Amino acid sequence: MKKPIIAGNWKMYKTPAETAAFFEAFRPMVAEVTHCEIVICTPFTNLDAAVRAADGSNVAIGAQNLYWGREGARTGEVSGYMLQAVGCRYVVVGHSERRQFFGETDATVLKRTLAALEYGLTPIVCLGEHLDERESGRTEAVLSDQFEGGLAALTPEQFAEVVIAYEPVWAIGTGRSATPDMANETHRFIRGKIAAKFGAAQAAATRILYGGSVNPANASTLMAEAEIDGGLVGGASLEPESFTRLVNY
Ligand code: PGA
Repeated sequence: MKKPIIAGNWKMYKTPAETAAFFEAFRPMVAEVTHCEIVICTPFTNLDAAVRAADGSNVAIGAQNLYWGREGARTGEVSGYMLQAVGCRYVVVGHSERRQFFGETDATVLKRTLAALEYGLTPIVCLGEHLDERESGRTEAVLSDQFEGGLAALTPEQFAEVVIAYEPVWAIGTGRSATPDMANETHRFIRGKIAAKFGAAQAAATRILYGGSVNPANASTLMAEAEIDGGLVGGASLEPESFTRLVNY
């Protein structure tokens, strides 16, 4: 049985002290949760505080990016080796904000995904179309390209460890979520790509999270869709109460 994942993406928010305060409130509220995996992806500077605060709990910690390679002359970068050493278990790869503002491409998504796998981290690989692409009927072509360029080169064994997040760019941070129908249909398309490349059994087993303005009010209808296996949540993951409501969708 594949377990849904509710993952928070804190983006560039919170200090270590704020991270500790979050977990102090959040941990007891979700202590009994077994129906889903809970992940919180923090800025690099909070990973150590988050791992310590979540130690012994049912909350796993993730990063929001990584560099390929183990160590070296790459000023400003952080590797999978380092993330593993700090106690991270997940890492977001190819978020649209990285594609948009930091030159991420499908080729670098592939390198980062491979690096995550090499160091035992579960990559949460993000795919998604821009508004003009959706409106001009190019959603499937865009997702196809992202899948082919970023994931299709993995071996079946490698792909089995990957989590996918479908995040329509126009829905991120806008309050305008995709409708459950629209998200479900797009997830089905992505699952079809997985089936064609890695087989039907793998397609059924892969978790595809939806992200983009998920909040406590819309989570249950989104998560009720057959093709949606969890959520990647930005804004609504920052407060313990709202993220607990999401975890308990
Ligand atoms: P949002 O962000 O929930 O604030 O829309 C989602 C994301 O960027 O992962």
